[in-house]
Amino acid sequence: MTSFSVSTTPEERLRLVIVGHVDHGKSTVIGRLLADTGSLPKGKLEQVQHNCERNARPFEYAFLLDALHDEQDQGITIDSARCFFRTARRYYIVIDAPGHIEFLKNMVTGASSAEAALIVIDAKEGIRENTRRHGYLISMLGVRQVVVVVNKMDLADYEQATFERIRQEYGQFLEHLNIHPLSFIPVSARHGENIVEPSTRMSWYDGPTVIGQIDALEKPSADTLATLPFRFPVQDIYKFTEAGDDRRILAGTIETGTVHVGDAVTFLPSGKKARIVSVEQFNTPIRRTAQAGQAVGFTIDPQIYLKPGELTVKPNELPPHVGSRFRANIFWMGHAPLIRHQVYKLKIATKRVGVRLVEVLNVIDASDLETVHNKQQVDRHDVGECVFETIRPFAFDIARDLDQTGRFVLVDQYEIAGGGIILEALPEPAVSSETDTPQWDRSALSPEERAAFFGHRALCVALTGEAPEKRALAAKIENRLLYEGVHAYYLSSVPAGTDRREYRVADDDREDQISTLGETAHTLLSAGHVFITVLDGVDDYDLGQFRRLVDPFSLFVIDTGLLSFQQIPTDLRLEATTEDEAVSQACRLIRDRVKVG
Ligand code: GTP
Ligand code: MG
Repeated sequence: MTSFSVSTTPEERLRLVIVGHVDHGKSTVIGRLLADTGSLPKGKLEQVQHNCERNARPFEYAFLLDALHDEQDQGITIDSARCFFRTARRYYIVIDAPGHIEFLKNMVTGASSAEAALIVIDAKEGIRENTRRHGYLISMLGVRQVVVVVNKMDLADYEQATFERIRQEYGQFLEHLNIHPLSFIPVSARHGENIVEPSTRMSWYDGPTVIGQIDALEKPSADTLATLPFRFPVQDIYKFTEAGDDRRILAGTIETGTVHVGDAVTFLPSGKKARIVSVEQFNTPIRRTAQAGQAVGFTIDPQIYLKPGELTVKPNELPPHVGSRFRANIFWMGHAPLIRHQVYKLKIATKRVGVRLVEVLNVIDASDLETVHNKQQVDRHDVGECVFETIRPFAFDIARDLDQTGRFVLVDQYEIAGGGIILEALPEPAVSSETDTPQWDRSALSPEERAAFFGHRALCVALTGEAPEKRALAAKIENRLLYEGVHAYYLSSVPAGTDRREYRVADDDREDQISTLGETAHTLLSAGHVFITVLDGVDDYDLGQFRRLVDPFSLFVIDTGLLSFQQIPTDLRLEATTEDEAVSQACRLIRDRVKVG
C-alpha cells in the first residue's frame, strides 16, 4: 500500500530503493531527483534555500526531504522512508533505506518490495562495509534491476580513473552475488552532474544519466503478476452483523494470480476447500474477477471456519509447500544472536507462526562474502544459510518461484530481528526435534489396572461449537459425573474477549492454548481421570492437534451446535434440548464410554 495520493489519472509507478553507506549521499540524490524533475511543490526549493540563508547554514538538497514531511495538504503524503517524484515516463516511489531495519521491514513485509535499487557510493570514500552489505541484501531479497551511482565525483576532480576503480572493484563484488548492474553512473548530486542533465565536466562518460537510466527500467507489470499462480493470504475475516446477514468476508491483498467468481479455492495449511461466491471491493462496481495487487474481499461457499493467515490458492495451479521445515538464507539484525532452542516468531505474508533455528549451515560475512563454517549461531549483521522448523505446518513458496510468498521476517521479542528467503522445503522430521522436554519417570501401573481401581476408564471430553454457555455446561457435566462416582475434572482456558471476537483470536495464541491444554489433559488422563474441557473456535486442524496430544486416550467431542464449522464427526451433537437434558444425555454417553469390561 503506498502512502501517497495523486489527483491525476493513474499512471505507472515504480518502486526504487536507495541504499548505500552512511553519508554517501542517498538523501542528496533523492533531493536532486525531486528538484530537477520539477516534482517539488511550487516554491518549496526557494523556501528551503531561504531558510538556510536566514540561519546562515549551507543549503543541502537532503533538507528537501525533511521539508516535505509536512506536505500532506499538497496531496502528497511522505513518511521518513518514502517519497515520490515523477518524470515524463512515470511516477517513482523512492524508499530511502536509512538503516537495515527500515529497509528489511519494507522489503520483507512486501509493504514496498522494490522493483529496482540504486546503490550510492561516495567516490572519495570508495566502497565501504554497508556498500557491500546492502548489495548482498539486494541480491538476497531478489531485486533484479540494480543501478550503481558513484556520487561526489566533484571531490574526485571528476576523474575517470577514480570512477573506473570503483566500477571494477564493486562490479566484481556484485558479480559474486549474481547481480549485473544495468549501469555505473558517475555523478555529483550536490552539483547536479549526470542526475537529470548529462554532465559537461565528465565528457569521458557517455552512458545514461540517473533519470535516463531509471526511466529505462522495466516495470514488472501487474499483468505479469496476474499470470502467476494465485496466492491470496487471508488478512482478516469480517462478519456482517446486519439482521439476517450471516456472511463473512475474507479480506486481504492478492499477491499473485487471478481469480474469478465460481473458482474453486483451497486454504492452506488447513486444506479446507470452498468456492468464490463474490468479489467485494470498497466503492467499486460489482465485479467477477480480481487479480494481483488488488486489495479485495471474497465471500465463499460453504462458509467454512477460517483463520487469518491461511493462504488461498487454486487447486489446478502450482501448489505451495505445506510443511514446517525449510532451508533459508537469512539476514540477522537482532541485538541478541539468533540461537537454537529459542522460539522466535516467523511472519510470512499474513501468517505468524512460532519457529526454531534447527541448524546453521554456514554464515557469510555480508561485507566481504567470507563464509564462516561451524558457527552455531547467527550474530548481528550476519547472513546465514539455516534450517528452520516451525511449531506447526504453514504454507509457503520457494522464493525463486514466487518471492511474494517465499520471503519472511523473524521477530524476536516483538522486534523484527531478521528477514530471509526460503530456498528449499525440507522433509518433515520423523520425530519432533524438541529435545528440551524433560524425561519423566512414570507410574508403573497400566491404564487397565488403574481403570480397575477407579471403576472406569480415562476419557477426554471436549465441548466445542459456538454456544455461549459451553463452560457452564462443562462444569455441570463434571458435577454430575462426580456424583455418579466418576473421577471427573474440568479445566479450560478463559476465552480472549467476547464471543464475536473469538474469530479474531490470534492464531498463535490459540495454538499455544491448545498445546498447553493438550499436555495437561494428557497428564490427567494418565492419572485415570475423565478430563473435561472447552475448545473455543476450533477447526478440524486444531481438533486434530488436540487429538494427537491426548493420544492414546480417546477424545469424546460434544458439539454444542450454533455456527460450528467443524467437519470432523463429533460424538454428540446437542440440539434443542434443555440444559438438564443435555447434561443427562452427555453423562449417559460418557459413562458408557468409560465403562470397565
Ligand atoms: P545518511 O542518510 O546519513 O546515511 O546519509 P546520506 O547517504 O543520505 O547522505 P546525505 O545525502 O545526507 O549526504 C551526506 C553529505 O554528503 C552531505 O553533507 C551532502 O551535502 C554531501 N554530499 C552529497 N552529495 C554530494 C556530492 O555530490 N558532492 C559533495 N561534495 N558532497 C555531497
Ligand atoms: Mg539520508
